[in-house]
Amino acid sequence: MGNKTIIITGATDGIGLEAATKIAALGNQVGLVGRNPEKGIKAMESISSLTGNDKLNFFQADLSLISEINKLSVEIENKYSKVDVLLNNAGGANKNKIITSEGLEQTFATNQMNYFTLTTNLMDILSASKGSRVVNVASNAHIGASINFDNINAEKGYSFWKAYCISKLMNIMFTYRLAEMQDKVTINALHPGFVDTNIGGNEGSVIKRIVKFGSKLFARTVENGADSSIYLSTSDEVENISGKYFFKCKPIKSSKASYDKNQWNKVWSLCESYKEQLS
Ligand SMILES: NC(=O)c1ccc[n+]([C@@H]2O[C@H](COP(=O)([O-])OP(=O)(O)OC[C@H]3O[C@@H](n4cnc5c(N)ncnc54)[C@H](OP(=O)(O)O)[C@@H]3O)[C@@H](O)[C@H]2O)c1
Repeated sequence: MGNKTIIITGATDGIGLEAATKIAALGNQVGLVGRNPEKGIKAMESISSLTGNDKLNFFQADLSLISEINKLSVEIENKYSKVDVLLNNAGGANKNKIITSEGLEQTFATNQMNYFTLTTNLMDILSASKGSRVVNVASNAHIGASINFDNINAEKGYSFWKAYCISKLMNIMFTYRLAEMQDKVTINALHPGFVDTNIGGNEGSVIKRIVKFGSKLFARTVENGADSSIYLSTSDEVENISGKYFFKCKPIKSSKASYDKNQWNKVWSLCESYKEQLS
């Protein structure tokens, strides 16, 4: 698989940048999405010098905002005649409660509304090519999480860790629900492991400490952390696999809660209704 068009969100740092580099090294055309244009240009320069591939484009968008995701979707559709893979990777967690200018709690907005909105917007262009894929970077942080639908935007209180874990549970439920609906495009999710990245930045020093502690225990480098993202985006071995959750390039079980179809439907309706309201 070396002649595909692959969109990678959060490709300016961490696991996304590593995946973008390896995927470009295979000869694919890569659309890198990020919010910071300087980091975008730096990422493209680094990828091009490491791989010799200059079939690279940078798209700027703040993925915590539906309006920007809608604008981005049009830019992608105008730029490319086909999209073979969408790798939803951008994500994070805020130490403190932040409500976006559109009224959504920012961790939910970036980690779940972003995946939902970009994927559903690009479904037509994805399903136009045979064998297209959506890959959602989730996390084992979802284990033990349960969704309080009365507190989606932290109306009743905010815990950064709960917000993060719930958003990652939603990523998996969204993956399973969409996979059941789709027969043209495959949709899979993955856990990258604990990886020592910039996740949470300075604001999220607590999540950063947890990740650092975790990475010491489980010792996953960024190179290793990107393994399933690259595998699910490019390997022929998974061309007919859909609706699965992967770790280290192998399907694994997600939490019991993540298989609750009533909850999948509730997450879907919630995202659909926010997308409709804010578009
Ligand atoms: N690291 C871990 O241990 C771990 C474990 C499990 C799952 N994950 C998941 O892996 C994915 C990648 O995380 P990472 O560890 O590589 O983190 P990272 O190094 O912080 O990279 C996150 C990427 O997402 C981008 N991003 C964040 N918010 C954005 C926004 N509002 N608009 C546009 N781009 C945005 C960042 O852009 P900037 O460059 O502008 O910051 C960066 O490119 C996330 O989905 C995360 O939940 C990570």
